[in-house]
Amino acid sequence: DMIEKSGFQHFMLKEIHEQPQALQNLMRGRVDGGKAPIKLGGLSHCEKDLLAVKRIVVIACGTSWHAGLVGEYMLEELARIPVEVEYASEFRYRNPIIEKDTLVMAISQSGETADTLAAMREAKNKGAKVLAICNVVGSSIAREADAGIYLHIGPEIGVASTKAFTAQVAAFYLFALHILLLRHKTDPKVPEMITAINSIPGKIQKILDREEEIREMADAYKDKNHALYLGRGFNYPVALEGALKLKEISYIHAQGYPAAEMKHGPIALIDENMPVIVIATKDATYGKILNNIEEVKSRKGRVIAIATEGDEQIQGKADHVVYIPDAPAVLTPLLSVIPLQLLAYHMAVMRGCNVDKPRNLAKSVTVE
Ligand code: G6P
Repeated sequence: DMIEKSGFQHFMLKEIHEQPQALQNLMRGRVDGGKAPIKLGGLSHCEKDLLAVKRIVVIACGTSWHAGLVGEYMLEELARIPVEVEYASEFRYRNPIIEKDTLVMAISQSGETADTLAAMREAKNKGAKVLAICNVVGSSIAREADAGIYLHIGPEIGVASTKAFTAQVAAFYLFALHILLLRHKTDPKVPEMITAINSIPGKIQKILDREEEIREMADAYKDKNHALYLGRGFNYPVALEGALKLKEISYIHAQGYPAAEMKHGPIALIDENMPVIVIATKDATYGKILNNIEEVKSRKGRVIAIATEGDEQIQGKADHVVYIPDAPAVLTPLLSVIPLQLLAYHMAVMRGCNVDKPRNLAKSVTVE
C-alpha cells in the first residue's frame, strides 16, 4: 500500500503532489511553440464542427462541474463563444434545447458517472455533437463521445478529486486556444499564452513547497464547524471547489460564494467562529475583494487570503496569507486551488477523518 502511495500517507496527498507532473503529461505532444502550437489529436476529425459552433453546453457533476465553470469563463474570454454549464442531473430531465450548432461537452474524470452518461445520451438523441474530457481511457463516456480530450494523468484513487480538476481546467485552456486558432489561424497573443501555461507546473511546485505553512494554518482552524470561501471571476469556481474539498473529507460545513454575493446572505453568518477563505489575487477585481475582506474583519471573522506573491498590502488586512506565484488571471485557478486542496487535506487528517474514503461518498457514482 505504501509503495502504491510512493511514501505519501494518503492517495489524496500523493495526487495533490502529482499535479506538476500530471499537467506536463497532459500537455506533452499537444503544446509547443511552433507553427501549430496546439495539437489535440482526439479532435482532428471534427474541426469543421468546431468551426461552426455557436453555443457550448457543458454537462458534469461534482468537481468536474466546477472545472466546467472555469471552462465557461475561459472559453467565453478566449474564444468568445457563449457557454452554459449544467449539472448533468438537471440537464437530462428538462428537455434541453439543442440547436444545429450547439456543441455539448461532457466532463468526467471516471467517464462512468450515471447522470453525466445519461445527459450525454439525451444530447446525442437530440442531435448534438458531444465532445468529452475524460481521464479513464475506454470509459463509457469516452467511448460514446464523438470526439474528446483525454487527460493522461494516470489513475486518481482518492475519492476527493484533485489532479483531475487541474487537468480538466488545463484541458479547457488548450481547447479554448485550439478554437481560437481554428477560427483566426494566428493570434498575436497565442505565443504568450503558450509560455504562460508551460510555466504553470513549476509554479504549482512552488506552492507545494510551502505545504508546512498551510499545515500550520490548518492546525489553527481544525476545530471550526463552518467555513466560507469567496472568489470572483475565474476564481469563483475555485471558491466552490475549495468548499467542496473541505466538506467532502473533513465534514466541516463549508460554502463557496462569488465574493460580491456575500452581502446578499452569507454576511449574516460572519462572527469570530467563521473562517473566511478569500481568493484575493491581483486582477481586475482586487480592490473589491479587499473591501470584502474588510467587511469580514469588521464583523470579527477570521480571514485566510490566497494572494499574489509580492502583495504586501494584504498582510495588514488578513489573519493569514498564502502566496501563489503571479499568472494571467485566466490561469490562476490552476494555482489558487492548490492551497485549498492542502488546507482541506490537513484539516481532515487532523480531525482523524479517512481522507481517501470519506463516509457516504463514492469515487464514481454509477447509479442515479
Ligand atoms: C463523485 C466523486 C467526485 C467527482 C464526481 C464526478 O461525486 O466523489 O470527486 O467529482 O463524482 O465524477 P466524474 O468521474 O464524472 O468526474
